[in-house]
Amino acid sequence: MHAPCNVVVLISGSGSNLQALIDSLDENSPVRIRAVVSNRADAFGLQRAQAAGIDTHVVQHKGFADREAFDAALIEIIDTYQPQLVVLAGFMRILSAGFARHYQGRLLNIHPSLLPKYKGLDTHRRALDAGDQEHGCSVHFVTEELDGGPVAIQACLRIEPNESIDKLTDRVHAAEHIIYPLAVRWFAEGRLRLADQGAMLDDTLLPASGHLLRI
Ligand code: GAR
Repeated sequence: MHAPCNVVVLISGSGSNLQALIDSLDENSPVRIRAVVSNRADAFGLQRAQAAGIDTHVVQHKGFADREAFDAALIEIIDTYQPQLVVLAGFMRILSAGFARHYQGRLLNIHPSLLPKYKGLDTHRRALDAGDQEHGCSVHFVTEELDGGPVAIQACLRIEPNESIDKLTDRVHAAEHIIYPLAVRWFAEGRLRLADQGAMLDDTLLPASGHLLRI
């Protein structure tokens, strides 16, 4: 049995992925969420964290001269919890290269597309407009390249004929709530790690898609 893995979660909004993570934990879980940090004071996820008895912090980017100064303030708060893992769960600020380097190998993000497709925003609309037959979400290690780090796990779902954007968004969101707790658990168990060659699961190099879950 590994020592518990201290996790700090960064959010900007609703925090449904944070909630899925909270709901996945019990006393036998190797994961301990030590704190939730938001760049927005009105993020609903802060209330979710407080309801679960988790420390919360708000660091508003407005108060800082530049990205580096904001990221330095974030790092200072995060590191008081000595996390083995930092989880970006709908954190909608681009982080500096220095931040990514500081947490290299212990920083995960969830992105609502089948990376490397549709980095950035508006992913569901772009998948529909392109006439894609499949769409999904990815959990990946964060590197200096935006939405570009090695993928740990993807959930892939078929787009239904004439599917509305709202329905597709909801289905992808539901898939996120499955794969993110799984990836965090794998990391906490020491099964998932970042190596020079890419993301490894149980000492096996994962393919570019990561572990693929068809939903
Ligand atoms: C999620 O869909 C997540 O994939 C996305 O923000 C949403 C947050 O939802 N993240 C990104 O687009 C990052 N580029 P939540 O606050 O309900 O977890």
